[in-house]
Amino acid sequence: MAKRSKFRRIGISTGGGDCPGLNAVIRGVTKPALDYGLTVFGILDGFEGLVEGKSIELYNKDVSGILSTGGTILGSSNKGDPFHWPEEVNGKIKIVDRSKEAIKNYEAWNLDAVIAVGGDGTMHITNKLAQMGMNVVGVPKTIDNDLEATDQTFGHDSAVFVVTEALDRLHTTASSHHRVMVIEVMGRYAGWIALNGGLAGGADVILIPEIPFDWKAIYEKLLMRNMLGKRFSIVCVAEGAKPIDGKLIVKCKDIKRSDPVQLGGIGEYVAKKINEDTRLETRYTVLGHLQRGGSPTPYDRILATKFGTNAIQLAIKRDFGRMVALKGSEIKNVKIIDAISRQKLVKTNDQAVLACHAVGVSFGTEKL
Ligand code: F6P
Repeated sequence: MAKRSKFRRIGISTGGGDCPGLNAVIRGVTKPALDYGLTVFGILDGFEGLVEGKSIELYNKDVSGILSTGGTILGSSNKGDPFHWPEEVNGKIKIVDRSKEAIKNYEAWNLDAVIAVGGDGTMHITNKLAQMGMNVVGVPKTIDNDLEATDQTFGHDSAVFVVTEALDRLHTTASSHHRVMVIEVMGRYAGWIALNGGLAGGADVILIPEIPFDWKAIYEKLLMRNMLGKRFSIVCVAEGAKPIDGKLIVKCKDIKRSDPVQLGGIGEYVAKKINEDTRLETRYTVLGHLQRGGSPTPYDRILATKFGTNAIQLAIKRDFGRMVALKGSEIKNVKIIDAISRQKLVKTNDQAVLACHAVGVSFGTEKL
């Protein structure tokens, strides 16, 4: 017998770059919602579906067996910002505001609330839609782990797992060929993936955006290892890392996105410089979207399920405008507006940074 609730219809959307664990959240929201007798609308392709009126009703069979699958059964998009909508006019891209259409569809579908799963971009949009009258609950996701309001976002652990495995593989070939191997990882303006992946995978040098690096310090570390008979080295570089007095390397810009900048290229640049300046044979690998694909780790499945099941409870209690968050070992919630006020960056006294120093990892700088 279904439990009674005044609540009738709930929407759920997954926006921004995908990550492992999104399906676990969808399942974590939908199963209890159906149990409460709610109708669940899966909004397709993030907020794009809300603007264009694309949604599907979710039943138990739709969310069965998806806990372990990567990606999102609802689709996602990082070009579907209703307030920054790219429209092609005479072969040119014009940015228009379609937020009123998003609200119209929300009302036409008779939704009591929308659970928005996404990173900081999605939370900014969610907050603006809330100001226009939409009832919202946020669920934080991103492999980058750069949301201050939660101790961890799901997706991050899975990305770190991929980086660690890649580093293990690079170690064996680096050692056989006595090479320096540079690996470029994601993370945008935060160094969490490089830091945690580099620490777990035994990198010798970790370069992150928060600690601008000095070429000389990197060369000294690599040449010293060589002198000590360790004839290979691993350098793990975050896509947003940059040298002191150097610039961020931007691969391209796409004005269709709310944040047009696409990072990429620092791995190749670092490898080329090391090769030229030290004469140590160097190769580079760009891990790219492998970090976002595949099955979520057990940690991410658990966190995502806890986030989903807590989010639906908040919605049913009509506690809107809030985002679920991990605080220590408990799921709490914070105001979305507070959650988006600050980005979480790596601090130089972070325990992972200190642990790296203690085992001799270089950040391409003097010891901090
Ligand atoms: O925010 C997640 C993320 O994977 C970043 O680490 C990366 O910079 C970006 O998204 C890549 O975006 P896209 O998939 O649009 O290339």
